Amino acid sequence: MYEHLLLETKGQIAILKINNPKSLNALNIATMTELNECLTNIEANKDIRVVILTGEGSKAFVAGADIAEMAKLTAAEGRTMSLLGKTTFRRIETMPQVVIAAVNGYALGGGCELAMSCDIRVAADSAVFAQPECGLGIIPGFGGTQRLARLVGKGRAKELIFTCDRIDAQEAYRIGLVNKVVPQAELMDACMTMAEKLLSKSSYAISMAKACIETGMDTDLSSGLDLEATSIALTFSTHDKAEGMAAFLERRPANLTDF
Ligand code: HXC
Repeated sequence: MYEHLLLETKGQIAILKINNPKSLNALNIATMTELNECLTNIEANKDIRVVILTGEGSKAFVAGADIAEMAKLTAAEGRTMSLLGKTTFRRIETMPQVVIAAVNGYALGGGCELAMSCDIRVAADSAVFAQPECGLGIIPGFGGTQRLARLVGKGRAKELIFTCDRIDAQEAYRIGLVNKVVPQAELMDACMTMAEKLLSKSSYAISMAKACIETGMDTDLSSGLDLEATSIALTFSTHDKAEGMAAFLERRPANLTDF
């Protein structure tokens, strides 16, 4: 169905792989176009509640935007490519499904930016992160200057972006760039376990919490708290609120189905 992606579903979980292993899953324009289309379809698909995003092969999550392709782009074309990436990556943050990045190797440049757009990052112990753009004469262009600073703080983001230093998974965990580090062989199992845990919660409530967190990070505290108040009011009208609280009071497992 796709030339540059592999999509598999296991119940309500989609496993989406960037599939350009010969170039270590580099993101060319065709791949990003497919990724945007695929995420748009998933966003509208109520049968999918969690997405695990990873790279094909054992060496790379995504080694960045495709340098061979970028080398030929004009300034205007580079801007268009950057906007395609921004639109695609932003969709991950705004779609109701939870997107888990299973970082299975190199996450460099656009690959690190793609991982940072995901809701949760689980890294293999072999993963390597960097923003090497300043060594190529450009800057991170898929949101890296914004998201890295928000995730790890301004000082660490500046150091990583200015020096282009590579960091391993443990260091990425230490500075808050990833949520968890697991042995490479256990990466997909760890992500599936996390995805299944999310499926046992209210997907509607999770999507509301995601939207509150995403919007709240871009606004002032009062506006964020107002949004949270409006959003919790919406959750009070759901089946899952009635069922979740009844199940607690009746000491039985809840059957949460809203999305
Ligand atoms: C195009 C890439 C690539 C990339 C690797 N390849 N990364 N092709 N774009 N980003 C290709 C190589 O050319 C090579 O192709 C094959 O993948 C294997 O890579 P090697 O370099 O031979 O492997 P290795 O020696 O193991 O080194 C792995 C590596 C290195 C450390 C990941 O490939 C590397 O540094 N890649 C570039 C990483 C990078 O700078 N990324 C940021 C890009 S800028 P052949 O045909 O020779 O086998 C960016 C900007 C985003 O992402 C924003 C834009 C708007």
